[in-house]
Amino acid sequence: MDELTKILKHAAEHAATYRRSLPERPVARPVDYEALRAAFSRPLDRSPADPLTVVDELVAVAETGLVATAGPRFFGFVVGGALPAATAAEILAAGWDQNAFNAALSPAALAAEEAAGGWLKDLLGIPATASTGFVTGGQAANTAGLAAARHHLLTEAGWDVGRKGLGGAPRLRVVAGEERHATIDRSLRLLGLGTDCLEMVLTNGRGALDTDDLRRVLASDPGTPAIVCTQAGNVNTGACDDLRTACDLTHAHGGWVHVDGAFGLWAAASPATRHLVDGVELADSWACDGHKWLNVPTTAATPSVPAPPSTPTPCRTPPPTSPALTALRPVAPTTPPSPPATHEASPPGQRCANSAVTASPNWWTAAAPSPAASPKACPRRALRWSTT
Ligand SMILES: Cc1ncc(COP(=O)(O)O)c(C=O)c1O
Repeated sequence: MDELTKILKHAAEHAATYRRSLPERPVARPVDYEALRAAFSRPLDRSPADPLTVVDELVAVAETGLVATAGPRFFGFVVGGALPAATAAEILAAGWDQNAFNAALSPAALAAEEAAGGWLKDLLGIPATASTGFVTGGQAANTAGLAAARHHLLTEAGWDVGRKGLGGAPRLRVVAGEERHATIDRSLRLLGLGTDCLEMVLTNGRGALDTDDLRRVLASDPGTPAIVCTQAGNVNTGACDDLRTACDLTHAHGGWVHVDGAFGLWAAASPATRHLVDGVELADSWACDGHKWLNVPTTAATPSVPAPPSTPTPCRTPPPTSPALTALRPVAPTTPPSPPATHEASPPGQRCANSAVTASPNWWTAAAPSPAASPKACPRRALRWSTT
């Protein structure tokens, strides 16, 4: 057997042994974290090492610090396991080592993402016309959705945030429930909107938005464009907001509705639970995690501080099985804020997700144009920014 096959099989065998042990092994053993740190933090060895030994040593050192989140007895948070087929696909993705930046670098990744995005929109009740992208997790998906909201509402107000930044920009309102997920606040910090702009809506006894209070909050400043953050699946109670009413109220004020559906958006996939997300199709952007109820592997990279939009971050390439979906509804184009000469055209009649998220001259020029000049190039590049 050649060296590469040997090492890949060896690692896969370790992974399978671990997965087989999940039903029996302790979910989370008490860990001597200092000992674990010391085991990892040994002096850097500058001499070559046998790859099989490297893998064995890694397994031996990590063993005590693994939490059996993928097992059948883990009930913490809303973490899913990883199905065998999805795990195997991730192994393949590592083997293929694609830079899924565009159709030139990985046509297969582009086609896979497109197909998966279409299936997910179908399953989740999101309009087929929405653009989709795969990012590192719910945090990144929320950030991408809120970035699109910020861009769109400011463009409507005559302000190109990609070029001018936020200094001196027209004011935006951000309205959210008291029990929103913490990632909404972090997204606001990342996007430069800050959390002071948050206007709180009361939640009802189940932890869902009180729509009477939403009506009151929106009516208190009707002239200022509002991003309304709704939730499908409160992480503490499971409650879903009344999305239909929230969308109707928000759109009556010209606002944008984002749905944080990290795990609750999956309710749309079953006729038995679809009523919980009634009206989901009316929203403007959606975030949903694959590594929760869909049981695809948890992301290998977590978002860190993204570069400002004018300096797109060269980022880790998400494999085709990458876990979180962000989707943006196409909206009627507003007056385009004078794009730079290298700007690829958006699909006719649609707001390009890429321009919604980044709209940065540097970004346009930094991004390699799709050889097929396909409209799909736009959503894909939006992903690149929202992944770090
Ligand atoms: C409602 C909600 N939004 C966002 C997130 C963040 O997801 P992630 O951990 O994938 O970033 C979670 C995670 O539990 C969640 O429950």
